[in-house]
Amino acid sequence: MTTLTPIGLVATAVSNPAAVNPVPERESLMTAHPHNEIFAPDPAFAEQANAGPDEYERASADRLAFWDEQARRLDWSDEWSEVLDWSDAPVAKWFVGGKLNAAYNCVDRHVEAGNGDRVAIHWVGEPTDDARDITYAELKDDVSRTANYLSSLGLVAGDRVAIYMPLLPETYVAMLACARLGLTHSVVFAGFSSAALRSRVDDAEAKVVITADGQFRRGKPAPLKAGVDEALGSSLDSVDGPAESVQKVLVVRRTGIDVDWQDDRDVWWDEVIPSQSTDHTPEGFDAEHPLFVLYTSGTTGKPKGIIHTTGGYLTQASYTHHVVFDHKPGKDIYWCTADVGWVTGHTYGVYGPLSNGATCMVYEGTPNSPTEHRHFEIIEKYGVTIYYSAPTLIRTFMKWGREIPKSHDLSSIRLLGSVGEPINPEAWRWYREHIGGDAVPIVDTWWQTETGAIMISPLPGATATKPGSAMRPIPGVEASIVDGDAKQVPPEEQGFLVITEPWPAMLRGIWGDMERYRDTYWSRFAEEGYYFAGDGAKWDSDGALWILGRVDDVMNISGHRISTSEVESALVGHDSVAEAAVVGADDATTGQAIVAYVILRESAPEDTDRLELIDELRATVSREISPIAKPRDITIVPELPKTRSGKIMRRLLKDMAEGREGGDTSTLSDPSIMEQIRTKGTRG
Ligand code: WTA
Repeated sequence: MTTLTPIGLVATAVSNPAAVNPVPERESLMTAHPHNEIFAPDPAFAEQANAGPDEYERASADRLAFWDEQARRLDWSDEWSEVLDWSDAPVAKWFVGGKLNAAYNCVDRHVEAGNGDRVAIHWVGEPTDDARDITYAELKDDVSRTANYLSSLGLVAGDRVAIYMPLLPETYVAMLACARLGLTHSVVFAGFSSAALRSRVDDAEAKVVITADGQFRRGKPAPLKAGVDEALGSSLDSVDGPAESVQKVLVVRRTGIDVDWQDDRDVWWDEVIPSQSTDHTPEGFDAEHPLFVLYTSGTTGKPKGIIHTTGGYLTQASYTHHVVFDHKPGKDIYWCTADVGWVTGHTYGVYGPLSNGATCMVYEGTPNSPTEHRHFEIIEKYGVTIYYSAPTLIRTFMKWGREIPKSHDLSSIRLLGSVGEPINPEAWRWYREHIGGDAVPIVDTWWQTETGAIMISPLPGATATKPGSAMRPIPGVEASIVDGDAKQVPPEEQGFLVITEPWPAMLRGIWGDMERYRDTYWSRFAEEGYYFAGDGAKWDSDGALWILGRVDDVMNISGHRISTSEVESALVGHDSVAEAAVVGADDATTGQAIVAYVILRESAPEDTDRLELIDELRATVSREISPIAKPRDITIVPELPKTRSGKIMRRLLKDMAEGREGGDTSTLSDPSIMEQIRTKGTRG
């Protein structure tokens, strides 16, 4: 199948989930350890924990009653009549007929409860002298002003707003102002390219784009508005004209760098927001009203707009933030290091913590700006108690050396979290020892953009942990590990991770493509009605659950999802490239790294310097998708390994990229191909 997408021509979309790869072996990461330690919950921690072991029993006794109870953590303007309506499966309705306002729940109600003076956001800019504290009362005023302005533009509930911003207080305000009005936000990671922004703006038909003039990156201002101009204009290769849906671009002045200006479209935030009234009455929206769309990579080149709703999403975000992080409002200083461009930033940067009245750290920059001490300085200065980050960053800290955390007082930390990719046992132990004072619990949390909130994780006061294992589904979530015939696999055998019952924060569909929704997640185990997560997993003999990585053509680079075909289509978009095959290969720091094999067109100039071309290809991918998607290695090859029916055998390429010899080449149309690739390829 060949489809034209906004980011180029995509060949051979793999939409048949039966074509998934076998569950990957992760022996190197998982079982090469001499010991199999178990850390029981510390009794002192368990004593004060938000959730004890009985939480599991209550949930399994009556799952829907359990979620009904959790929904009451929130303030609703209208009560629901039914907890779950699954009659239209796989499209769920949770808390049927209930109404609530997400922004009211995240902001106003804390002010009304007398906590207006509590800091909601300790914001720290990348430049070292740049910091602001925003209380809940101030946040309420800012959100109300921004909501009043957005209403004045004529936006009404259900309209879409794209947010393309660095991590600024205004980013939080923009998201919450949308939520307050029922405007469905689509946050696009500011590290994504103009082409990626454009395809997302077009797909959701966003009426407004909120951005900043620029952002600080490693001490220097980098343009951002310029990328928006490019995205919305007609200069991109992939588009036919200007983005038609967009009426206004609201621009936060962050760096002061020069920007082009389109008078009828562009508005400075500081010229329109501060003068707005702080009076704004939040309206209750239906529990199923779409709170946001967030695009994520699937197995084809076209990103999927994952739809999340208001009631179910916020319920599970709030509940999991409360029990998994054991969060104590007014006491904890909570830091989720994810950017709001990713789902982790949505659920555990914004909605989960703010719904619980948390005091959140928000840091704009990179961990090594100006030095590799930055995160630890922030932890020390603000007394961060809960720190939630990604294995890639932990492995990077390991590389930088233990002396760095050691030179800071990190004793405020009482809980550590990990998300985004499997955490290898070494990194887990290092995290606990060097960041957690060899004492604090670690929660390894498995979930996805699609699941909306944490699904598998220990509860720190109730569940024993093992380095590298996500342990077990949280209360109220039912998961299983099955073989291709949907039969449960025995312990120590690898299988497919499935979710067997609907959960409140589940996605409700893919924006504009419900068929793809059914096909991608629900057709693999249609008869059983299981949600197919796309991850391989196993139970060990102690009943702990291990996530073994993706089983589809999605790579996980530093916890960021990128599909092989997205990168392939960017490469094939280059004039000199005839064909490309991309695989994710194990990488000691980033988890996986992108490795590409390309065949040049016959028309490609004979005398091209191949290493220069490889650099150019890398730049193309960076421009078309994002610098995150830049291949680590690109090899120009005479041919790709294909079966007789023409399917590229990525597994052989993956073996090669990971330095393994051999592999079964008997199904190749020409078994000598691998040898040719090895001897005749040019790698850069
Ligand atoms: C992977 C991020 C192992 C997994 C919240 C999943 C993990 C994908 C873990 C979703 C974990 C996430 N252990 N693997 N604790 N957490 N993953 O949508 O492959 O960006 O399917 O959501 O990340 O990535 P996404």
